[in-house]
Amino acid sequence: MLVSAKEMLDKAREGKYAVGQFNINNLEWTKSVLLTAEELKSPVILGVSEGAGKYMTGFKTVSAMVKAMMEELNITVPVALHLDHGSYEGCYKCIKAGFTSIMFDGSHYPIEENIEKTKELVKIAHNMGLSLEAEVGSIGGEEDGVVGLGECADPNECKAIADLGIDFLAAGIGNIHGKYPENWPGLRFDVLENVKAAVGDMPLVLHGGTGIPEDMIKKAISLGVAKINVNTECQLTFAAATREYIEAGKDKSGKGFDPRKLLAPGADAIKATVKEKMELFGSVGKA
Ligand code: 13P
Repeated sequence: MLVSAKEMLDKAREGKYAVGQFNINNLEWTKSVLLTAEELKSPVILGVSEGAGKYMTGFKTVSAMVKAMMEELNITVPVALHLDHGSYEGCYKCIKAGFTSIMFDGSHYPIEENIEKTKELVKIAHNMGLSLEAEVGSIGGEEDGVVGLGECADPNECKAIADLGIDFLAAGIGNIHGKYPENWPGLRFDVLENVKAAVGDMPLVLHGGTGIPEDMIKKAISLGVAKINVNTECQLTFAAATREYIEAGKDKSGKGFDPRKLLAPGADAIKATVKEKMELFGSVGKA
């Protein structure tokens, strides 16, 4: 069932588990995530970045593909189709395209402008039945070969954004996208506790789910994190399985690679990664 992410995340916060957001890039990834969620009876969030949306020819294509695929595969678990790190314009496009959830990443605007734009988008998203995620404190990551460590969110700014009626909040707590550097000091649980104290029952979102040690994931969930985003780990396992298939020289027929066979090991690798994360996040059987 394609639904907004609000109810599933409120339930997760209450039940002290987290729902995984897995980013999708093509048909194979989408199919792997949906089939695994159904098999494990877990709610799930399909994340679509602006870049991935463009790659798949636009958000309308993504929305149509996901809806049709869910029908053809008889997916019964709750699924949210969510814009990841959306720009202001991107949010409008996804609302129009039939997404059920959006993230407005206004973290790079001055806080007043972030508040203004978030307020406007909350109103429109809620009128259309979508959930909305906002971000305070930018999440670091690699840019031009330099790994930025990410800002820590200011709890007062988190409260100001939370009070706008958003459904869940991504607060920077030293987490970053992509692989963590050797000298990464770990998640700032002190910041997480202060954010939680400021925003109360609002479900919190942990970006940069790849490479965070299991004990930190569990502690973050115990402190109010109800949604965890994973992208890089699926990319890595997909690439490794595809490389292995090619290096094994499986195109012996001389007819070239059959794309369905070529992408199958990568798709299976994503299923395994998604399964492992759902088990770690505790969302299995919660659909
Ligand atoms: P990773 O790529 O580090 O898993 O982070 C994904 C993410 O946070 C998407 O918003």
